[in-house]
Amino acid sequence: MTIKERMAELIAIIEKANEDYHTKDTPTISDAAYDQFMAELVSLESKYPEYKVEFSPTSRIGGIVLEGFNKVTHQVPMMSLANVFSESELRSFDERIAKITDGYTYVTELKIDGLAVSLLYEEGVFIRAATRGNGSVGEDVTSNVKTIKSLPLRLHEPITIEVRGEIYMPHKSFNQLNEERLSQNEPLFANPRNAAAGTIRQLDSSIVASRNLDLFIYTIVNAKKYVSSQIEALQYLKKLGFKVNPHHHHVKTIDALVDQIKSDDELRHTLSYDTDGVVIKVNEFHLYDKIGYTAKSPKWATAYKFQAEQVETLLKGITFQIGRTGVVTPVAELEPVLVSGSTVARATLHNEDYIKMKDIRIGDTVIVHKAGEIIPEVLSVVTSKRNGQVPFEMIHACPVCASPLKRHPGEADHYCTNPDCPGKNINSLIHFASRVAMDIDTLGERVVEILQYLWYLN
Ligand code: IVH
Repeated sequence: MTIKERMAELIAIIEKANEDYHTKDTPTISDAAYDQFMAELVSLESKYPEYKVEFSPTSRIGGIVLEGFNKVTHQVPMMSLANVFSESELRSFDERIAKITDGYTYVTELKIDGLAVSLLYEEGVFIRAATRGNGSVGEDVTSNVKTIKSLPLRLHEPITIEVRGEIYMPHKSFNQLNEERLSQNEPLFANPRNAAAGTIRQLDSSIVASRNLDLFIYTIVNAKKYVSSQIEALQYLKKLGFKVNPHHHHVKTIDALVDQIKSDDELRHTLSYDTDGVVIKVNEFHLYDKIGYTAKSPKWATAYKFQAEQVETLLKGITFQIGRTGVVTPVAELEPVLVSGSTVARATLHNEDYIKMKDIRIGDTVIVHKAGEIIPEVLSVVTSKRNGQVPFEMIHACPVCASPLKRHPGEADHYCTNPDCPGKNINSLIHFASRVAMDIDTLGERVVEILQYLWYLN
């Protein structure tokens, strides 16, 4: 075998292993074997750069640092979708279509909560990725998108095609990223969608590579050239090697559609990524022009938006946290419960007024959700489950130094009156050393705590 043939063989082996692992979720070779093939390819490419191909899996590693993103004009604009929020709005959507045509069916897909991307392939080779931008002009994020492991760099057919999908951050990657940021005292991402969007706008693609984004593809641009319906489009995308979300359904009646949405609303709690609704598309492409478009969105599709998840749990206690400005915040200590994909054991209660207004009492069964899908918050009390709990009383002394607390007129917050409060100081020192301030790498939270402990002993 020639060197060139061996390199082609290695690429084929790695591509297959990659697709089995990241797109099909069924690994076929060990990590060690994969690493060995990859190392061999890297070494051959450095010895014989003339044989290196554009779609080589070694180009995924990242490392390209850009000065900015080039603009990309979308040949076909990236539209958005109208929303419906209830069954009756959904039925009205269907009635509007029924007035225009018959002989239609629907495809439901999960609405993945990330950011839309358009991918261009020429003769089967990945060429360019662009963000939605304003729908007409987006940004070229090719080197960042290349680091997404489920993105095929080469398709199973040598065709020229543009496809669109959603880049998202799985819960696991999101939690890992925020834990890291917490330990570095960096601001947390509010939710996986913001984290995905922030990551794709990084100029250094090796940062993107480290954050484990993923991608589902759901549309072919000018799809009529290849297939005649959405259900066929999804099947064809899969055949080409794209990762297509498996939770899509072909439904024939409005009642079946309503049932499918109810079932997806249950399903979403079990998934490892965020979905904020169900996208409903008329299946038959030949009806699209007849049903028509508004300036912003097609009339043959809509998004049914889910209600934010709310969960019941027990409020075991209320503790108090002191921030670096000296504000004392009440915190709900909860019976741990799964909310929107992660376990919640504590939630903010904001301040005394919030607790009194909602009449939240220790021992109550409460309803929690994630505000903006991340910061756990106690929403309300299930008063029917109350038996003998006593009304909440705000503390009067600092939980750390026992100095009196003060509430300024017209403000809801309580402050520790001790200018040298260690609870307050430790947090201001952590902030001082953090990346957003002095960026003292060796002075992390743990070291500050040890310093403070030593200071106590003296
Ligand atoms: S189809 C004509 N399918 O939702 C619009 N969009 O509000 C074509 N999205 O910009 C979009 N999952 O970012 C479609 N299965 C899915 C989707 C999906 C998420 C996002 C996408 C789009 C937005 C529309």
